[in-house]
Amino acid sequence: MAELLRNRRWTLKRRPNGIPVPDDFELVHDTIDPDALPPGHVLVRNMVTLCAPDQRNWMNEKVNFHPPMALGDTVSSPNVSRIVASTHPDYTPGMVSFTMGGWCDYALLDVAKLYVPLVPYPEGTDPIKAIGVLGMNQLAAYFGMVKVGEPKPGDLLVVSGAAGSTGSAAAQIGKIKGCTVVGIAGGAEKCAWLREECGLDDVIDYKAEDVAAVLAERYHNRIDIYFDNVGMPLLQAAFDNMAPNGRIALCGMLANYPGYGDMPGPSNFMRIVHGAIKMQGFIAVRWRDEIPAALAEIKGWIDAGLFKHREDVRDGLENLPAIFPELFTGGNRGTLLVRLADS
Ligand SMILES: NC(=O)c1ccc[n+]([C@@H]2O[C@H](COP(=O)([O-])OP(=O)(O)OC[C@H]3O[C@@H](n4cnc5c(N)ncnc54)[C@H](OP(=O)(O)O)[C@@H]3O)[C@@H](O)[C@H]2O)c1
Repeated sequence: MAELLRNRRWTLKRRPNGIPVPDDFELVHDTIDPDALPPGHVLVRNMVTLCAPDQRNWMNEKVNFHPPMALGDTVSSPNVSRIVASTHPDYTPGMVSFTMGGWCDYALLDVAKLYVPLVPYPEGTDPIKAIGVLGMNQLAAYFGMVKVGEPKPGDLLVVSGAAGSTGSAAAQIGKIKGCTVVGIAGGAEKCAWLREECGLDDVIDYKAEDVAAVLAERYHNRIDIYFDNVGMPLLQAAFDNMAPNGRIALCGMLANYPGYGDMPGPSNFMRIVHGAIKMQGFIAVRWRDEIPAALAEIKGWIDAGLFKHREDVRDGLENLPAIFPELFTGGNRGTLLVRLADS
């Protein structure tokens, strides 16, 4: 008989008011019996968790893509996890898989009830890479650019949140496709990284410059593609300068997530009609069947030195409530990951 596993999990104590604060969460200690799994379940040890801005939306009461978390629920999160026990025929102990395993050491998952299925990785996969440079943010950037942005050589692409995990990938995919790329990011260090390491053509520091004025002055009605990670008010600044037949790829609206679920959109909407502008939101998993080919292409770009990526890896489940809010204050330098176990 195996020993009971000691488990720690962060639960949602109250719904955050704006950017989450540590007091919105409560650490609960309990135990799990690995020999007493109900049928069709897997028990996983979470190894790495990805801090994703959308988690903030799941903390609201409103239904969105992800079912809202109930108060007292373990905080839901995308993880790389190792299966330690299973009563499901498709999954065996030792497998490493993508899971929505949550902010906890161990998670007991009812496979039939998962709203995001388990996605096992090939043996030997590096968990940091799997959820970092080859993770869902990079896939969102890939599909958002290729399927929605439809880049052509010579297009002018503007990307918000450009120094972040998704934004830096979208911007560099734009470069690979022959676009002139303008990034919008906060602070001198991030702007320098985009210019010097990622090879962007122009960078606007939204914390130091008036983005609407800069876009109107340098790129008036010339933006062919706007890849939006942040929503308003930067969405308005780009919207007002779209070129005829421009495409707006709505990837996320993270500047607006700390609100209560009401996401404002741009005004002067008739520009869409007169400019024949396409504005399309997307969720990367919509192109699920094309993920292996997309990952192969991204790997090829990494190997060719065309695709720079920063992983901002922190340590410790206990630190999650203090780390997660950094997504909304710009504290992260690249994909924000937290290591929950050594291997
Ligand atoms: N549609 C999909 O399938 C999909 C999948 C993954 C992610 N996403 C979306 O992609 C976006 C980026 O997510 P990520 O995980 O890659 O995060 P990230 O960009 O790595 O981190 C968030 C960054 O956003 C910037 N930021 C924070 N508040 C801001 C504000 N008020 N105005 C402008 N910038 C602000 C900060 O950088 P600065 O220091 O530059 O301010 C921060 O570092 C989110 O909207 C997310 O929901 C969508």
